[in-house]
Amino acid sequence: MQFDSKKCTVDADSVREKALGIVATSSAKITPVNLAKRLFEKFELNKKQIKSVIRNLVAAGELTYTYEYGSTFLERSFARPVRISKHIVLQPPGHHHRAKPNDVVVKIKSGASFGAGNHPTTRLAIKGIEFALLGSQIVDKRNDTSVLDIGTGSGVLLITAILCGIKSGLGVDIDACARIEAAENVRVNGLEERIVVSGQSLGGIRQRFSVILANLRFPSLNKMLFQINARADTNCLLILSGIRDHELDDLLKVYQKLQFGKMWTENELGWSGVVLKRF
Ligand SMILES: C[S@@+](CC[C@H](N)C(=O)[O-])C[C@H]1O[C@@H](n2cnc3c(N)ncnc32)[C@H](O)[C@@H]1O
Repeated sequence: MQFDSKKCTVDADSVREKALGIVATSSAKITPVNLAKRLFEKFELNKKQIKSVIRNLVAAGELTYTYEYGSTFLERSFARPVRISKHIVLQPPGHHHRAKPNDVVVKIKSGASFGAGNHPTTRLAIKGIEFALLGSQIVDKRNDTSVLDIGTGSGVLLITAILCGIKSGLGVDIDACARIEAAENVRVNGLEERIVVSGQSLGGIRQRFSVILANLRFPSLNKMLFQINARADTNCLLILSGIRDHELDDLLKVYQKLQFGKMWTENELGWSGVVLKRF
């Protein structure tokens, strides 16, 4: 389909792609009016045409309206399968995804807890898991591997790690609602035999783990340093997210003191994720 603008003929697919790109890369939540303005600057289409592009993206399930503090925003929709990284796809149960060979499809129900994939910190942690568990040989999956997910939310990271080959997992969260939703997501992925979700504190856990996941803010990651260290086995990998870009150097210094060195880092919209390994 094409739009005829005053100056040129515009391909509707380019407008769609641009709109999705603006929403995906905007560091602040974007309102429909702001998106329309950005598209208007770029494509010189009329208001009606731009409104129709946005409406069609919502109708197609690519974008969704969200409401916060009395304002309406447009966000990428996770009510359909979304590829987060090269191999990892988040899929709401009941939706079909035509998986490519080597895809890891993680079923996540929409809920109130954090971890639908719509936040950069979740996506960075998932990319860290892909790097650590699919891309490289840094965890020997023939061994009896285990993963601890601190602040499991929807359970998305924990379930991803298990589907990427870790044998068993424990997810903890201080929020009872998150624990209920994580347990339900464990069930829809058929992983009840391999995952336990609990409200126990880190201090109450005795086991050591091959992989520790934590998508928490830097002050929490800093405060938990010694407890995380105590739960890490000899070759443990830490996959950490929730770190603002400007906090990354401090986090790396703090963890380096306990012999955890950086193996991977990536950033998105002002947030950083890291994979650390004990050296
Ligand atoms: C940013 S969300 C991360 C959720 C999910 N892991 C993800 O990456 O999308 C942080 C979660 O940690 C939980 N949380 C915060 N502090 C915690 C703590 N000290 N111990 C356990 N859970 C905690 C919150 O309830 C919330 O569900």
